[in-house]
Amino acid sequence: IGRELVCLGEVDSTNSAVKRRAVEGAPAGLAILAECQTGGRGRRGRVFLSPAGKGIYCSVLLRPKAELRELLWITAWTGVAVCDAIEAVCHVRPGIKWTNDIILGKKKVCGILTELGMEGESAQSQYVVPGIGINISQTPEDFGPEVAEVATSLAQELGWTPRRADIAAALLRALDKMNADFPREKDRYLEQYRRDCVNLGQPVRVLAPGGPWEGVAEAIDEEFQLVVRRPDGTRETVSAGEVSVRGL
Ligand code: BTN
Repeated sequence: IGRELVCLGEVDSTNSAVKRRAVEGAPAGLAILAECQTGGRGRRGRVFLSPAGKGIYCSVLLRPKAELRELLWITAWTGVAVCDAIEAVCHVRPGIKWTNDIILGKKKVCGILTELGMEGESAQSQYVVPGIGINISQTPEDFGPEVAEVATSLAQELGWTPRRADIAAALLRALDKMNADFPREKDRYLEQYRRDCVNLGQPVRVLAPGGPWEGVAEAIDEEFQLVVRRPDGTRETVSAGEVSVRGL
């Protein structure tokens, strides 16, 4: 990862930039970082605020030879990789709110948007783009009152400001390891994900087709899906592709 490393001043979205290069045939391992994004994208069509100089906005191009079922794990694996990177520099281990919001002090410090692409029929043409946005030095004023209720930055939680270059380097290293481990080290990532996940045993609201409904998050299954127990005792498996889950 990062053998080809592109650092941009401003871009619409690093995910979009990597996808544009992916369809032009860019090699696996391409990493694009930007100082700021004018159209940072979150999951479920949300905007991801990406002010200049205050965060890490990074996307990488992976071309794993794996089945679609396994490609869907990458979103959870990226969460573990981000926790590894933050821990390496900041000496605190964040939690993961399923599927992959990175949480410090009960607020979101990093969001991950993983996009899959498939041009043509062959396995060679499939690609995965994990995009990572880490809040480093934003103050509550930078977020504005509404977002500040749910979002935080590393500086706010730590009381000191880690260097962006250190976080970026640790992130690329962790993503590189993830890429090398995939999908062989599944059990290790599953075990770590279960340890990091802050939802287990907690009430959740499932926003899905047919939702929203409420239950208790019981387990992470072998496919990194969330198993939720409904009030009537029945269990439902919620898959990464279809829903998001909110702590109550
Ligand atoms: C979310 O929390 O819903 C996901 C946010 C993902 C943000 C990152 S920033 C780098 C990459 N480029 C984007 O447009 N989005 C991701």
